[in-house]
Amino acid sequence: MTTAEARGAAAGVAVAARGVSKAYHRGGETIWALRRLDLDVPEGAFLAVTGPSGCGKTTLLSVLGTLERPTFGDVFIDGQRVTGLSEDRLAEVRRKKIGFVFQTFYLIDYLTALENVAVALRFQGLSKRAQRERAQELLELVGLGDRIHHLPRELSGGQQQRVAIARALAAEPKVILADEPTGNLDQSSTAQILKVFEKIHAAGQTLVVVTHDARVADAAEHRLRLLDGAVVDSTLE
Ligand SMILES: Nc1ncnc2c1ncn2[C@@H]1O[C@H](COP(=O)(O)OP(=O)(O)OP(=O)(O)O)[C@@H](O)[C@H]1O
Ligand SMILES: [Mg+2]
Repeated sequence: MTTAEARGAAAGVAVAARGVSKAYHRGGETIWALRRLDLDVPEGAFLAVTGPSGCGKTTLLSVLGTLERPTFGDVFIDGQRVTGLSEDRLAEVRRKKIGFVFQTFYLIDYLTALENVAVALRFQGLSKRAQRERAQELLELVGLGDRIHHLPRELSGGQQQRVAIARALAAEPKVILADEPTGNLDQSSTAQILKVFEKIHAAGQTLVVVTHDARVADAAEHRLRLLDGAVVDSTLE
């Protein structure tokens, strides 16, 4: 067993970071976006990550979600150390275990809500019909059962974000990572997204949400505050 494995994530931890640092290099300058960060997100937790602009929140999600590699340290997903994996294996981990929700929804504009969600079910070994049924169930879960045939441009911002959340849930990921999911939304849309998050949390999925929105942070079970790439305050153990 390597040292990293010995210090690995305990059972019941969905996502963990051990001594994670991330440097960006630009024109001879080095920016440390994350500085020796340790984190254990228990399975089923709903964690809100807050902190001022530039403190490293998006970087943290990218590194936890294996979209970017840490410069130092290790990331564990569902007990597996992912830091040393090849790009192919990382893509597989992302596909099977992680659902991403971004501030801009990245829906495919010529596909309906149902088709946008069904696309994310392609690799699940389901028939086309089963894909559509599952997509419909997910859209009902996010309160859009009556909008399944709408194109993105025929939906409000909050509705589009809920389609994006349904898509993130499609592969039944262990972990959902959301970056400012209510950043572009009005109050009532935000309230609808919060309801969806509460359902996800009640269903036992792990949720890490980066937010500037006090309502989202208040609704979360745990809060973690970043400052200059380091954790300054956390309700996690
Ligand atoms: N690709 C990159 N190249 C160089 N520097 C970067 C890159 N991405 C982020 N940074 C820098 O790393 C730091 C952390 O950025 P990050 O995007 O994680 O902040 P953030 O907390 O998400 O901010 P915001 O609330 O504004 O979204 C910032 O100083 C930023 O300028
Ligand atoms: Mg950000």
